[in-house]
Amino acid sequence: MSSTILVTGGAGYIGSHTVLELLNQGDQVIVVDNLSNASEEALERVKKITGKHVVFFQADILDKAALSQIFKHNQIDAVIHFAGLKAVGESTQIPLTYYHNNVTGTITLCQVMAEYNVKSLVFSSSATVYGDPQALPLLESMPTGLPTNAYGHSKLMIEEILRDLSESDPSWRIVILRYFNPIGAHESGLIGEDPNGIPNNLMPFITQVAVGRRDTLSIFGNDYNTKDGTGVRDYIHVVDLALGHLKALEKLKTDAGVFTYNLGTGVGYSVLEMANTFAEVSGQPIPHQIVDRRPGDIAACYADASAAKNDLGWTAQFDLKRMCKDSWRWQKNNPNGYKD
Ligand code: NAD
Ligand code: WQD
Repeated sequence: MSSTILVTGGAGYIGSHTVLELLNQGDQVIVVDNLSNASEEALERVKKITGKHVVFFQADILDKAALSQIFKHNQIDAVIHFAGLKAVGESTQIPLTYYHNNVTGTITLCQVMAEYNVKSLVFSSSATVYGDPQALPLLESMPTGLPTNAYGHSKLMIEEILRDLSESDPSWRIVILRYFNPIGAHESGLIGEDPNGIPNNLMPFITQVAVGRRDTLSIFGNDYNTKDGTGVRDYIHVVDLALGHLKALEKLKTDAGVFTYNLGTGVGYSVLEMANTFAEVSGQPIPHQIVDRRPGDIAACYADASAAKNDLGWTAQFDLKRMCKDSWRWQKNNPNGYKD
């Protein structure tokens, strides 16, 4: 049976890919996004790919009155909550903005959900909540609490708020998804990651070098205790991630409580492996130089994703070459992102 899903941050990178998969499975989708880090064009492209309609409200999740109007006039079954600020470096410069947007924004959303008795929620958390791992691969039961920046703290605070909420009212149904490093794009090449300014993350930087927007990739350190000295991460295709949200919604149809899952592939690749695989798949050279470590970075991070497999029936399907191929198709076809 089809459901109506409200997606906050649905015009963003992961949100737009998830909206597409929701539409493909026959759900109705309402997007709430303030477009602070997104373009409405992403949703136009999703409509083009799927041939389906998306209801869009340009609104801020901090705006309780606006949210209330949306809940009042629409029968909503569940919420997927992507809206948030996510730039780690920026979060250390303007922590109050990050806490207000991410934490207060989530509280406001949950207040309105409770008011309209919509108590099914999927929340975007991050592997960053584990901080510097004491052991790998990372299991959900491993300690959290030492993220190295305000962004990470905001995610951890929200996780704790959601657990307290569920304890106070066990009728809430909440899935917390801890994403590892999303990359890739929909195979159409019509939607993808489109960061503002200089990319903070590795893959958009690589694709911008490949397309000629930047000269050289700076590799942040080659003296880590890893296979080749560069940082190791668990990169996951954004479409696999999107499909994880659909599985989470299924879980919420049957189970109340709070459930936390890692979404990763379980495989770690180094920065050099990423640059080399991308160059091989795209046929574009990726000139690079080794520079100092980036403050706050950890050596290695990858998931044990067996809980999501056992409980949700979800596993990542796409390998690294496919991730690179899809990232490249998006960037090549849209050298300036949605501005093209
Ligand atoms: P994104 O910036 O592309 O998407 C976030 C969206 O939220 C944007 O469209 C933005 O305009 C919107 N938004 C921000 N604040 C808002 C507000 N107050 N009201 C309404 N809309 C608002 O980022 P993304 O990569 O798609 O990430 C989605 C979620 O996943 C975020 O919560 C992020 O923290 C989390 N996450 C991302 C990554 C990653 O590496 N991309 C990893 C782990 C977790
Ligand atoms: C990956 C690797 C860098 C850029 C961040 C957030 C995390 C999550 C995902 C939201 C590291 C190296 C990078 C570059 C490089 N986001 N690198 N040159 O740091 O694992 O995670 O994004 O929740 O919270 O912290 O991802 O893509 O920035 O870096 O050498 O220009 O690439 O040092 O080893 P990270 P990333």
